[in-house]
Amino acid sequence: MIRLPGLIDPHVHLREPGAIYKEDFDSGTAAALAGGFTIVLAMPNTKPPLIDEGSLALAQKAARAKARCDYGLYLGAGHENRTSAAALAQQVCGMKLYLDQTYGPLRIDDLGLLRDHIAHWPAQRALAAHAEGRSLAAVIFLAALEDRPIHVCHVSRKAEILLIKQAKQRGIAITCEVSPHHLFLTEDDLPRLGPGRGEVRPSLATYEDQQALWDNLDVIDCFASDHAPHTAAEKDGPNPPPGFPGLETTLGLMLTAVRDGRLTIEQCIERMYTNPHRIFGLPEQPETWVEIDPDAEWEVQAEKFFTGCDWTPYEGMRLRGRVTRVILRGKIVFQEGKFLEGLGYGQDVAPAFQNVGTV
Ligand code: DOR
Ligand code: ZN
Ligand code: ZN
Repeated sequence: MIRLPGLIDPHVHLREPGAIYKEDFDSGTAAALAGGFTIVLAMPNTKPPLIDEGSLALAQKAARAKARCDYGLYLGAGHENRTSAAALAQQVCGMKLYLDQTYGPLRIDDLGLLRDHIAHWPAQRALAAHAEGRSLAAVIFLAALEDRPIHVCHVSRKAEILLIKQAKQRGIAITCEVSPHHLFLTEDDLPRLGPGRGEVRPSLATYEDQQALWDNLDVIDCFASDHAPHTAAEKDGPNPPPGFPGLETTLGLMLTAVRDGRLTIEQCIERMYTNPHRIFGLPEQPETWVEIDPDAEWEVQAEKFFTGCDWTPYEGMRLRGRVTRVILRGKIVFQEGKFLEGLGYGQDVAPAFQNVGTV
C-alpha cells in the first residue's frame, strides 16, 4: 500500500446546472473520489454558464447538497460581466477564459473584452485560459502587460509547450497543465476511437506534439483530467460534442507511466497535489490522504465507473495502481468501491480564501 496526499484535479466539467443527465455533483464527485481526488475545480461552461451571482448560486446550491469531495467553482469570463466579475472573486477558485473553439457559449473573440477581463480580475485569484496556438501568445502577452499570473489549460502542442517554456525562462508568471489524453493518445488513435468519440478540444495531436510534452515534463506544472463527460449516444450522433471523461483513469494512467519508468511518483505528486495547491491557493485538507495498491492491475471498463458518462476512450486498457481507500478530513469517504459519507460532505474551497489575504 502507498499513501498519497488527497489529489487535486484543477479542471473538470460537472455539468450542473443544466445537463445532469451527463453528470451532476453527486456522480462527478463520486468519480473524483474513486479516482483519488479530494478537490476538483469545476468549469463554468454549464447551462446557464456561471457568469453572475444568480448562475453561481445555482451551482453552489447543487454542490452544497451533493458534493462528496471538496470543490471549487470557476467563474466564466462572459460578454456581460467584464466589470461585475471581480465582485464574485472571493466565491470562486478562479476565472476561466475561453479563447478558442469549445463547448458552450463562453468563447471570447474580442480583444478589448479579453483585455478588460484580464485587467479587472484580481491578481490574487487564479486566471485560467483555454488558449491554443496564437491565442496562447495573445493571452500570455496580455497577462504580462497587467503584471499578473496566468494559468494555461490543457497544453497539447509542441509549439505551445515551447512557448510556455520560453515565457517561464523570461520570468513571466505563467503556469500550465496537461491532460492525460494528450500524453497518452494522439491523432493515430482516431480511427480506433471513431470520428465522434475522438472529438476533443484541443484535438488529439501528432506523435511529435505528444513527445514534446513528455520531453518538457519540467515545464508542466499540473496534470488535469479535463473530465468532459458527454454520453456515448451524443458522441456517436450527428453533432458529436468534444470531450473525454477522465476522473477515473487519470491516476491509473499516471501510475502506469510510473511503473513504465516514464515518470517518478514524486513528479506525479508535484503535478497532482503540490503545484495545483499552490497555484490556486487552495486550503489544507487536514487528515486527508489516498491509499493505493500500486501493484493491482485492472482493466478499464466504463460500465464499472461512477461517472454519469457511459464510455471512455481507454476502454479495455490495462492499468496499474488502484485506489483502495480515500480519507477526507478524518473520515473514510471511499473504500473498496463504496462511499461511506453522505451527499454534501464535500466543502467549497472558496470560503477559505477569505483567510488568505484580501482580494
Ligand atoms: O473537449 C472539450 N470539452 N474541450 C472544451 O474546451 C470543453 C469541454 C466540454 O465542456 O465538454
Ligand atoms: Zn478547454
Ligand atoms: Zn475543459
